[in-house]
Amino acid sequence: MKKVKIFDTTLRDGEQSPGINLNINEKVMIARQLESLGVDIIEAGFPISSKGSYEAVQEISKVVKGTIICALARTVKKDIEAAAEALHSAEKKRIHVFVATSQIHMDHKLRKNKEEIISMVADNVMYAKSFCEDIEFSPEDASRTDMDFMCKVIETAVDAGATTINIPDTVGYAQPEEYGARIRYVLEHVPNIKGIDISTHCHDDLGLSVANSLAAVKAGANQIEATINGLGERAGNTALEEVVMALKTRKDYYDAYTEINTKELFRTSRLVSQLTGMHVQRNKAIIGQNAFSHQSGIHQHGVIQHKKTYEIMSPEDIGWVGENIFIGKLSGKNAVKKILEENKIILSEDQLKEVSLKIKELSDKEKDIEKDDVIALAIDELNSLGKEEDMIKLDELTVLTGNRITPSSTVVLEINGKKKTGSAQGVGPVDAASKAIKEVVGPFINLKEYRLRAITGGTDALCNVAIKFEDDKSNIFASEAVDEDVIMASVKAIIKGANKAMIYQKKFADNNRVKD
Ligand code: KIV
Ligand code: ZN
Repeated sequence: MKKVKIFDTTLRDGEQSPGINLNINEKVMIARQLESLGVDIIEAGFPISSKGSYEAVQEISKVVKGTIICALARTVKKDIEAAAEALHSAEKKRIHVFVATSQIHMDHKLRKNKEEIISMVADNVMYAKSFCEDIEFSPEDASRTDMDFMCKVIETAVDAGATTINIPDTVGYAQPEEYGARIRYVLEHVPNIKGIDISTHCHDDLGLSVANSLAAVKAGANQIEATINGLGERAGNTALEEVVMALKTRKDYYDAYTEINTKELFRTSRLVSQLTGMHVQRNKAIIGQNAFSHQSGIHQHGVIQHKKTYEIMSPEDIGWVGENIFIGKLSGKNAVKKILEENKIILSEDQLKEVSLKIKELSDKEKDIEKDDVIALAIDELNSLGKEEDMIKLDELTVLTGNRITPSSTVVLEINGKKKTGSAQGVGPVDAASKAIKEVVGPFINLKEYRLRAITGGTDALCNVAIKFEDDKSNIFASEAVDEDVIMASVKAIIKGANKAMIYQKKFADNNRVKD
């Protein structure tokens, strides 16, 4: 049986999904969990693309030791230098170099001809090799690239030192048989391909990324690039949990295995969905809430008689914990600490005290505390600015709403020690509160995105509000807050974001990136 390596790109391609903006703490938490899951390679970021991505690769390289840490670079010297520098502390490292090779990308994006692309590949793969033994090379948009040119590019990359060749279906265009045939063609026509790992990287624009990845394994690929919950650009990337469970459940068909600890799949999926705010659909294969529930009487009867009548895998295989576990009023700091440790969330003693206190306050209000609440409160605490850093503090908030009045709000904020009051009306209470804050803070904040989600069920559920706003210099700031009250969660998130903007404006000059 052949081993298939699992290359996780949740923190790179997954993080490119619209609406996702993980900060460094969150990326490190996910990387630690990916290590427990047993992925072979973690693509931790694209260091040249932003300060946040550079620092995430740097930090993950320091703390995750059992797994290969990979950084992405274009065929550009400064990209490769940034990747090598960010990976400095990694025990096992890989640089992933890519350049587009399809005619449409060469003509319209790169404005380069085939000879120029070949020489960029030769020079830059060799340059990357001078920093790192383990080099992956990708001809971007491979599935729309002329086969023979693709093979020439691959041969050049291998000659220059590439040890893994990845065949990206960048735009999700390929069909399974066709994609499998492309992999076979590479194996049969690239003269120096023996001993080189062949990787798949599929996007889901036509809903075929998992099928394409598996067809490639059947054709000889031995690495799959994937993301948790299938996150990624546009329709996303290959869902890691789906390819892994397909290979496990149908090892008779694929004659292949992975070294993924499948019992960690559910926990990993939940952590990623909580941190990214990207909810998993109920009927999603493997990790959706309905994946193992049987509704029809015939199915229920069958499963009771013999599980395998309607279940091809067991929920235990993926570490499904079923219902959310309640933690009682008296559970205290140690129970909280245990839940957080199990979920790779590390808090300082002070932060732990703060979270335990909030849990006690909520229990005193008769709220049932579930595991997911504890995790959400802990993440909220991790992402809080130090109290001493806050330039804007909420002193008072009043909101008036109803079916016969225009919602209105008054806020009293303390800005640099001075109290200021603002009032406004809005289409709803959150809108009114947001406008009242804007009246005090000034027009420099513009709300661009607002997302609200309940952490658990029930009218007493904690909710999470994630916002993004733009300041007057087009900088984008993201922030999140958790509270049992929707309006309070919204106001906290807006104030947190406004603090970030003010601190940023104090410290740095203009630049157009998302700040984490
Ligand atoms: O989809 C793609 O082509 C990529 C490359 C950078 C591998 O993400
Ligand atoms: Zn991609």
